[in-house]
Amino acid sequence: MYQIHTMNKISPVGLDHFDRHKYSWGEEVANPDGILVRSASLHDTAFPESLLAIGRAGAGVNNIPVEQCSEKGIVVFNTPGANANAVKEMVLLGLLMSSRKVADSMTWVKTLKGSGPDVSKLVEKGKSQFTGPEISGKKLGVIGLGAIGVLVANAAQALGMEVYGYDPYLSVDGAWSLSHTIIHVNTLKEIYENCDYITLHIPANKETKGLINASSIASMKHGVRILNFARGELVEEADLIAALDERQIKVYITDFPTDGMLDHPGVVSFPHLGASTPESEENCAEMAVLELMDYLENGNIKNSVNLPAASMPRSGSARICVIHQNIKTIISQISTNLSELNIENMLNQSRGDYAYTMLDVDGNVSSDVVEKLRSISGVIRVRVI
Ligand code: MLT
Repeated sequence: MYQIHTMNKISPVGLDHFDRHKYSWGEEVANPDGILVRSASLHDTAFPESLLAIGRAGAGVNNIPVEQCSEKGIVVFNTPGANANAVKEMVLLGLLMSSRKVADSMTWVKTLKGSGPDVSKLVEKGKSQFTGPEISGKKLGVIGLGAIGVLVANAAQALGMEVYGYDPYLSVDGAWSLSHTIIHVNTLKEIYENCDYITLHIPANKETKGLINASSIASMKHGVRILNFARGELVEEADLIAALDERQIKVYITDFPTDGMLDHPGVVSFPHLGASTPESEENCAEMAVLELMDYLENGNIKNSVNLPAASMPRSGSARICVIHQNIKTIISQISTNLSELNIENMLNQSRGDYAYTMLDVDGNVSSDVVEKLRSISGVIRVRVI
């Protein structure tokens, strides 16, 4: 029986995929084979030896200590694209709200309560303070053309914007999905120098943290509007606030407010609502559960953030899955130790410092063989399914 620890509330649309004869799940599981998580932080969680995989129902994985998981042979999955439409819709809302002073006007109009028959007169008199430009014909820079960035770029283009896209890691699928009218630029400088609006759709990692800082802001157009529905760490808070004070940045729209920016008149913030739709919660839960099941039952890896993609149809009587360091001679040592078994099929894939080997074999895989594989230097985890 596979034990799954559900952290956060995971939609039943996902959980219903688990066969009750093979899986049990809940919030109190002592030695889980898998964890399903949304936004709960796992940074202070001690992972038990039993833990094989973590399924993150969402795209960002900064609530998971990914490097520590890799070292322990724990595969971390995410659900790219499953919430992309929800986030895209929120970004479009933010785009319009960064132009038209909708949020302030809504707060102001409520102050007219009690004005009786004068409300319509006061509305007409006061509305000019909330004038804002149309987005049509303006230039939008999309930084990051993954599942969300592509949808945002295409939708903004359909709303009449001239869209610039930047992504040095653009995938073939991304390129196919992108409208041919999007201007593909090779440097961030081109985005900064040309765009009236800039929207961020990249993960927060070593390379991207603090991307929006005093120096990048200085090379942007005066009065630029910045949207951040990706991660708060992409922005240096003090530099952003200074630029808002100087009106170099006209508006900052974010799903990741900090205490320092909450009361700034140039900031419109939301409580990380981007993916908060029932559709997206269901899509993410379903995708995370299916990825976890395929790994636990078949060893197949799809949409992992720390190990290579690796899938093969089952053959032979048993499958041996080995997570190991990406170093020389390991594969030959593995096959030497399997000399008494017939290898029907095998697959080896690597990603950075780590690699994964799956072998379908005929015959009985004894505990002695498993121990020999485990003792190979560089081998992190061995499983027989
Ligand atoms: C994501 O990373 O998928 C989004 O920010 C939404 C979420 O955190 O669940």
